[in-house]
Amino acid sequence: MIAALRLEEVSFSYGSVPALERVSFSVAPGERVALLGRNGAGKSTVVRLIAGLQRPDEGTVWVGDWDTRDCVPEQLAWRVGSVFQHADQQLFARTVRDDVSFGPRALGVGEREVERRTDRALEDLDLTAHAGHHPYDLPPALRKLTALAGALASEPALLVLDEPTIGLDRTLRARVTRALLDRSAGSVALLVITHDLTFAAETLERGVVLDRGSLACDESLAALLGDVTRLEPLGLAPPPVAALSAALDLPGRPVRAADAAAALARVARGKPVP
Ligand SMILES: Nc1ncnc2c1ncn2[C@@H]1O[C@H](COP(=O)(O)OP(=O)(O)O)[C@@H](O)[C@H]1O
Ligand SMILES: [Mg+2]
Repeated sequence: MIAALRLEEVSFSYGSVPALERVSFSVAPGERVALLGRNGAGKSTVVRLIAGLQRPDEGTVWVGDWDTRDCVPEQLAWRVGSVFQHADQQLFARTVRDDVSFGPRALGVGEREVERRTDRALEDLDLTAHAGHHPYDLPPALRKLTALAGALASEPALLVLDEPTIGLDRTLRARVTRALLDRSAGSVALLVITHDLTFAAETLERGVVLDRGSLACDESLAALLGDVTRLEPLGLAPPPVAALSAALDLPGRPVRAADAAAALARVARGKPVP
């Protein structure tokens, strides 16, 4: 099966400032990958390369079977939906609905299909009641969701999201989790930059960590988050559930809230853990 995304020995510098050095990883259709690392590690640069806003100095970024070097961003938008950092400050239409429908409309799909995709994206994020509002009349958290709905509405094979949950409360984060799990079940590949490892644990399955522009690790997210001693050197704060599992030495070191609750209940009843 062809990967939704494949970075092959990718290096990139901003002038004399190196940002990525020989980074390789790929994301399969339906896979849910967290892109992690401290500030300046190179995460946003990866997003810019995938969206075609930058070209690699060396190596290749493949989006499906397209080499981004041969593509303009408008073409890549057929396959990639991206939400950039501060995307909530980049809304421009007069209504939430117009903003969300911009992506599919720009792809040139028929008007009924534009409407269908827009309705679905608004519903997925519970924004339907806000469809007629001006984006800047909404609180920042709902503007953030509007930007995400715009990416969903293009119905791309790959979603690349830079910090989609910043400023969102627990309820809104759960909304994002639900929408992303739903798209992934439909074979959409996810690459999500986040510092919110609780959200990552609930939503994503694999962790790719960058450290000073190089690939530091690429493995199961549960295994990585469950090993709290490895997180700090990578600039990652252990999520509270993982810290609890480690502190209580819970069997299997669960990192999701529901799994930790189940493990605690078993321990409390003195039952063996499967
Ligand atoms: N527009 C730019 N011009 C010059 N250097 C940049 C630019 N954007 C990012 N950098 C540098 O590239 C490196 C990687 O940055 P970035 O990809 O934004 O990291 P992250 O998203 O992980 O915080 C950092 O050293 C950063 O200072
Ligand atoms: Mg960044």
